[in-house]
Amino acid sequence: MTSLMGMSWNAGLMPYGLRWRKHRRAIHQYFNIEVVQSYQPLQLSKARVLLHRLRDNPSDFMRSIHFAIGAGIIELVYGHPVKDVDNKYLVIARNSSTAASEGLLPGAFFVDFLPILRYVPTWFPGAVFKRKAAEWRAVFDQMLYVPFNDVKADLDGGKSNTSIMAQMLAEASYLEGRADEEDMEVARNISAVAYGAGADTTYSTMQTFFLAMVLHPEVQKKAQAELATVVGPSRLPDFADRDSLPYINAIVKECARWIPVVPLGVPHATSADDEYEGYFIPKGAVVMANQWAILHDPEDYPEPELFKPERFLKDGKLDPDVRDPSTIAFGFGRRICPGRHLSDASVFINVASILHVFDMKPAVDEYGTPKLPEARATSGFFSYPYPFECDVKARSASAQGLLNEMQ
Ligand code: HEM
Repeated sequence: MTSLMGMSWNAGLMPYGLRWRKHRRAIHQYFNIEVVQSYQPLQLSKARVLLHRLRDNPSDFMRSIHFAIGAGIIELVYGHPVKDVDNKYLVIARNSSTAASEGLLPGAFFVDFLPILRYVPTWFPGAVFKRKAAEWRAVFDQMLYVPFNDVKADLDGGKSNTSIMAQMLAEASYLEGRADEEDMEVARNISAVAYGAGADTTYSTMQTFFLAMVLHPEVQKKAQAELATVVGPSRLPDFADRDSLPYINAIVKECARWIPVVPLGVPHATSADDEYEGYFIPKGAVVMANQWAILHDPEDYPEPELFKPERFLKDGKLDPDVRDPSTIAFGFGRRICPGRHLSDASVFINVASILHVFDMKPAVDEYGTPKLPEARATSGFFSYPYPFECDVKARSASAQGLLNEMQ
C-alpha cells in the first residue's frame, strides 16, 4: 500500500540501505540533541502563541494545540510564518495526516498480504484501495512539492530564508546551480517527513496531557505548586527551568506512557532468518513491537492504567531506576525516532507554560455536573484520545496579568 501511495520518500518506511542512511544522516544533522537547542526560541514563541489562543478561544483548545504544534514545525522547516489555521501548508498537512493515518495502518488493506493485487485495474470492482492510494498520492505530492517550490522561489528571488530546508539547499549548492538531484530529493523528503512524522505525534501527546489534567486535578495542583516555587508569579517558564521541575518532567513522561502515540510501533521486517526465545522468525517476516503493552507492563509500571507521574519520582527527583518511557515510545535501535529531542522539548515547554497560567477542568452540563471524559484512545497507526471538552481558565489574577503582558 505504501508503494501505491508513493511513499518511497518517507525515511520511516525505507528499507535499510544506502538511501535510508543518506536520509537518516541528514535528519540527524538537523534534529540531533545539540542542534535542537537552537530551536528553543521558536518553540518558546509558539508556546506563548498557544497561551494566547487558549486565553482568547478556550473551548477551541484542540485546534489551538494543533495549530501551534503544526505552525512550529512548518516555520522551522520551511521558514514561512503560519498565522492562521487555514494557512495553505497547514491545510495540506492536515489532508496528508488523514491519508497517512488510514493508509499506514498495518494490515488494513488486503494488498499488503497479496501484493499481486496491485496490478488490478483502478476501475475493477473492489479496487477501492487503488482509488484511495491514488487520491492519497496526490496529497503527499502536494506536501512534498508545494513548500519545496516556495523555498526555492525565495532563494531564487534573493529573499531571506534561514529554515532547515533553505540550509539544506544551500549545502547542496543550489544557488550556485550545482545541486545534484539526489541532494535536492533528500532536502525535499526530510522536510516533508519532519512534518509528517512530527506534528500529529506531538499533537497527540498534548491531547493526552489535557485529558490527564481534566481527569486529575490533584496532579495539576502539585505541578502548579512546583511551578509557583521554581518560576514564581512574575514570569513564564523557560527551558532553563527544566532541571528544577522534576514533577513537570514526570508529567511529560507519564503522558508518553499512558496513551502511547504509536501503540504498535512502526512495523519492521527481518533482513535475515532469526530466532528469539525458541521462536524461528524467517527473513522478511513483519515484526511489530507492541509499545502499548511494554508501556503498560505492571512490573515496570504498577497500576499501569492510572495516570501517576509520581511513579517516576523518588525523594523529589526523577528516579533513574524507573524505565524511561521515551526508550520505548520512540521506537528502538538504529531506527529510533530521530525527532524525539525536538518533540520532548516542545511537550515540556507547552506543558510547563500552560500549567503555570491555566486551570483545566471538565466542562459541566446544564445542571452543573462535570462531564468527565473517558480515558480512551482511538485505534489506528497513530492513537489519539477520543474528543472531549475542557474548560480552560486563567488560574489567578497574576496568571491573567502574565497573559495580558505577553502581547
Ligand atoms: C511524540 C512525538 C513522536 C513520537 C511518539 C514518535 C514516534 C516514532 C516511532 C515509534 C518511530 C519508529 C521507530 C522504529 O522504527 O522503531 C518513529 C520514527 C521516526 N520519527 Fe518520530 N515520533 C515523534 C516525533 C517526531 C518528530 C518531531 C520528528 C521529526 C522531526 C520525527 C521523525 C521521525 C522519523 C524521520 C522517523 C523514521 C526513522 C527511521 O526509520 O530511521 N518524529 N517516530
